[in-house]
Formats: sequence, C-alpha cells, structure tokens
Amino acid sequence: MKYLAALSALVGMSTAHAIVKKIVVDGNVYPGYDPRYDIDWKQKRIEWGFSSKAAAQGIGPAQNMSSPDMACRFAPVQPPALIAVARAGANVTYSWGAYYQSHMGPVITYMGKLASPTQDPTTVDFFKIYEDGYDTKTHEFGSQRLYANNMTGTVQIPSNLKAGDYIMRHELVALHYAKKEMGPEFYISCLNVKVLGDGTAEPKKEDLVRFPGAYKPDDPYLAFDLHHHENKYIVPGPKLFQAEFNAPKGDRPIVKETGVGSGATWEAYKAIKNLGDFVSESVVTNDDKLNPGGGGCIWEPGQAESTAVCTPINGGHDMVKSPTNARGQFDVKKGQQPKPARKLRRSFTG
Ligand SMILES: *[C@@H]1O[C@H](CO)[C@@H](O)[C@H](O)[C@H]1NC(C)=O
Ligand SMILES: *[C@@H]1O[C@H](CO)[C@@H](O)[C@H](O)[C@H]1NC(C)=O
Ligand SMILES: *[C@@H]1O[C@H](CO)[C@@H](O)[C@H](O)[C@H]1NC(C)=O
Repeated sequence: MKYLAALSALVGMSTAHAIVKKIVVDGNVYPGYDPRYDIDWKQKRIEWGFSSKAAAQGIGPAQNMSSPDMACRFAPVQPPALIAVARAGANVTYSWGAYYQSHMGPVITYMGKLASPTQDPTTVDFFKIYEDGYDTKTHEFGSQRLYANNMTGTVQIPSNLKAGDYIMRHELVALHYAKKEMGPEFYISCLNVKVLGDGTAEPKKEDLVRFPGAYKPDDPYLAFDLHHHENKYIVPGPKLFQAEFNAPKGDRPIVKETGVGSGATWEAYKAIKNLGDFVSESVVTNDDKLNPGGGGCIWEPGQAESTAVCTPINGGHDMVKSPTNARGQFDVKKGQQPKPARKLRRSFTG
C-alpha cells in the first residue's frame, strides 16, 4: 500500500473513481476522455471535457441534483473536439475503468438533439433511450451486471431516430449512500454523435427532460435503501422513449479521426495514462478485496429521513476504517450482511 500511495502521489491522483476508458460507436473505437491528463496533453475526444482541472482531479461523481453538473458531470463543460458518427440502430459500447462493486444502482442513457455541436448541455432536451434498473428476483442492479461484464455495456441508438447531431448522456447512478444528503452519486459521460439514416422518430414533449431538473432528491428511487430488498424499483427520470431497435442499415461509417494519436507524444501520453490507470485499478481492486461490499450504508430509520443512521458495511474505501473489516463476502443476492463494524452518526464523503 505504501508503494501504491507513493505512486498515487506521483501521478497526481486523488480518490480513485470512475471514468470511461473506451467507447465503440458503430464499430469505431474512440479513447475515453480522461480529465486527469487530456487537458494538459490536448487530446481530442468525442466526450465533453471538464473545463476546470481542479474539478477533474478527483474524477468523482456529480452529487448536487440542482447543479449544472448534473448535465455532464463538472460544469461548465467544454464541447468535444471530435464528433462520433453512427447509423441509426448502431451500438455504442462503453468500457468503464475501475469501479467499486459497492457503487450499486441503475445504468441509464439519454440522448438529446443538438441545435449545434456546442450547445450547452444544460439547455438540451434529453430523452431516455436505455435503462438497466433493479431485478427484484435476483436483487441485482444494472451496475452489478455491468461489473460482471468487465464494466462494459452496450446501448443501441434507436433505428428509426431522425438523423442529426445528438448528445448522448450515459450514467451510472451509485446508491450506496443514497439516503444521505447529496448521497446518490452520478458518474456521467456525455459524447457527441452524428446520427445517419432516414428515420423520422422524434421524442414527444412528455419524453423530454433537462439536467439539472430531471432528478429530485425526494425521488424515493434515488433514496433507495440498497440493503432492505424492496420489491419494486422504478428507474429515475422519464419513461423510456418508445422507438424501434432494429439492425442499422447501410455501410458502417468510416471516420478519419478517433482521437488515437501516433508518434512519440502519443507514446508518452499513453505511458503516463497507463500508469494512472494502473494505480486507480490497483487501489479499487485492493479495496474491493479487503473490504468486500465496502463503502455503503445499511440505513436504520431515524425520526426523520435526515437523521437515519448509517451502519457502514465493512470499512469501505471512503469509510472510517474499522480494525477488523474483512468479514467475508457481502452477498446482496442472499441478503447476507456482515455484522456491522460500528455505527456512525456523522456523515462522510462518498
Ligand atoms: C447545489 O447547486 C446549486 C445550483 O448550482 C447551488 O445553488 C447550491 O449552492 C449547491 N449546493 C451545494 C451544497 O453545493
Ligand atoms: C449490438 O449489440 C448486441 C448485443 O449487445 C448484438 O446482439 C448486436 O448484434 C449488435 N449489433 C450490431 C450491429 O453490432
Ligand atoms: C476488460 O476491459 C478492459 C478495457 O476496459 C480490457 O483492457 C480488458 O482486456 C478486458 N478484460 C476482459 C477479460 O475482457
């Protein structure tokens, strides 16, 4: 751990959290935006960038549901230098970097028509094209299916969607601190994509939402207690946009520029990025091993929601560590909960 801590300081990382590493849009492979390095190294990406390096340091989640951060993570965001191209009906496959197993919740994707590729995402009307919520039989969330699939998930662009410039807002919602004020965590990736085809489908007024605005702290499914096995879960946001999801038509688009570089600069960039990824992956993997299911609460009701007591589940990565915290695998499916280490009435950072 000492070695990792030193390495971590070396590459200027703070808390390890999640960013997308790679996105395949209609067969073309694009590197994900890395706020830790891509600003300094002037990399061209299809994802919206974070304007402030300070905001990017933690590569953490958006947490304030009334903030413009809810659109694309750390506002004000920067329009991407590249635009992906996809046929209507094509797949978009996201591969996320290291992610904590404890960060359970739905996986959701929205699209929004852009008047121009630089339109401020907080002014975009978004419609939901994909959601993977909670399976009440297996008690598994979309994030757990994603985790089981090497953090790689596929979203299909509706095959009858009207052609044009769109923004795609993909997010992992983590509910491990859900009842806490600003407890739900939103890991958001926004990218621009030009959709091709002769489709005519457009969302209706009731399909459209804006960020911030679409989510409210009093939504019971954003204050959902992961560990009390509710028998119903409705994914936050509007209902799914009703569209067709058939195979794309025509030839796959060829793109000239994907953001993959070449030469010495690219090699140097890759070396530092690989080191950063290695550090964050090691930290997350080790923490998950040492503190299975760690980093979350079993909530005991208080007199008011805000005074509910969090019983930490093992000592998670962002918990006050308890002396003996490796208590066996936390199994959400079977509802086996390890004996709580201790109770905390204070809040802690997520
Ligand atoms: C949340 O965001 C709103 C809108 O930007 C802001 O007014 C408020 O101060 C923020 N709250 C916190 C706790 O940061
Ligand atoms: C899209 O992905 C699904 C599985 O996730 C696969 O069955 C389908 O063949 C893919 N479509 C294309 C056009 O690659
Ligand atoms: C998991 O995904 C990463 C990219 O995020 C890739 O490098 C690795 O090969 C994948 N592992 C497996 C077993 O598919």
